Amino acid sequence: MYVILGATGNTGGVIAETLLAKQQKVRVVGRSKERLSRFTSRGAEAFEADVTDSASLAKAFAGARAVYALIPPNMASNNVRAYQDQVTESIASALQQAGVTHVVVLSSIGADKPDKTGPVVGLHILENRLAAIPNLHVLNLRAGYFMENTLPQVDVIKNFGMMAGPVNADLPLAMIATPDIAAAAAQALLELNFSGQQSRELLGQRDLTYLEVARVIGVAIGKPALAYVQLPGEQIVQAMTQMGMSKNMANLLVEMSDSLNAGYMKPLEPRTAANTTPTAFERFVQDVFLPAFKGQATTA
Ligand SMILES: NC(=O)c1ccc[n+]([C@@H]2O[C@H](COP(=O)([O-])OP(=O)(O)OC[C@H]3O[C@@H](n4cnc5c(N)ncnc54)[C@H](OP(=O)(O)O)[C@@H]3O)[C@@H](O)[C@H]2O)c1
Repeated sequence: MYVILGATGNTGGVIAETLLAKQQKVRVVGRSKERLSRFTSRGAEAFEADVTDSASLAKAFAGARAVYALIPPNMASNNVRAYQDQVTESIASALQQAGVTHVVVLSSIGADKPDKTGPVVGLHILENRLAAIPNLHVLNLRAGYFMENTLPQVDVIKNFGMMAGPVNADLPLAMIATPDIAAAAAQALLELNFSGQQSRELLGQRDLTYLEVARVIGVAIGKPALAYVQLPGEQIVQAMTQMGMSKNMANLLVEMSDSLNAGYMKPLEPRTAANTTPTAFERFVQDVFLPAFKGQATTA
């Protein structure tokens, strides 16, 4: 039995589908059985639990061959770091209580750093907390910058006719499509070929700057001259809070962008075949960005 947290989300959903397609037993975890029903109709067991409820998680983890764990984002929280630490503690004690031996963790580039990386500090703490659990084998998948982070640009383009954000226009970013992370996680769950505490970077198909991102998106939406403008942190915080994000989360995301811009938060490994994944940004734009731009339903 594999237990998947965040099963209705980007990575968890694809992991659950992949394992089900391989006839594996899967227990999907989320806050609503209704949202999990697309998996139960394919033979999965649904388990309703909040990740902050350690007792429920321990029950969800019971009998697991391995667990896929992540800290779900909490965009509305006024204290994101405290929320993340609460989730970490909840997951860690549940893993320990259930006697789980293998866990694959969604972490991030920059999780090696103890500070100044915004929400990624929470992943640094998660990695360290799990490393302290005796007899638990942990694989931290340190993913690059999600291509899905470009989706809020749909509204920016529609409202302002350009793209805007806090990241330097010419900063190369290891951009990855979330199904590629899911594929790596599913493979690791099936093979369980890790022991002790291991970290593995996933850097996407190639590095991309926001200038290149704007060029690819611009061509796809029929605005080949689409510009990307870097805005100061205060303006970004204002825009993000207007979109419903808490000020605390917006400030953390600006802190993370500052660390990316300064080169403090970056991959540690050189790009190799092992940390390069298949999905090109052009593919993501056709499959996910463009449908979102045209107002069609998208799961991302
Ligand atoms: N964005 C990036 O560039 C980046 C880079 C590296 C790593 N990361 C990591 O990736 C994570 C997001 O992964 P993802 O995109 O696969 O997830 P996601 O699509 O944001 O989905 C997370 C899922 O978690 C569930 N969830 C939310 N709050 C919950 C709660 N309190 N208890 C139980 N379940 C809850 C939600 O399902 P229900 O609503 O059905 O419960 C949701 O579908 C981030 O939090 C970050 O740690 C992000």
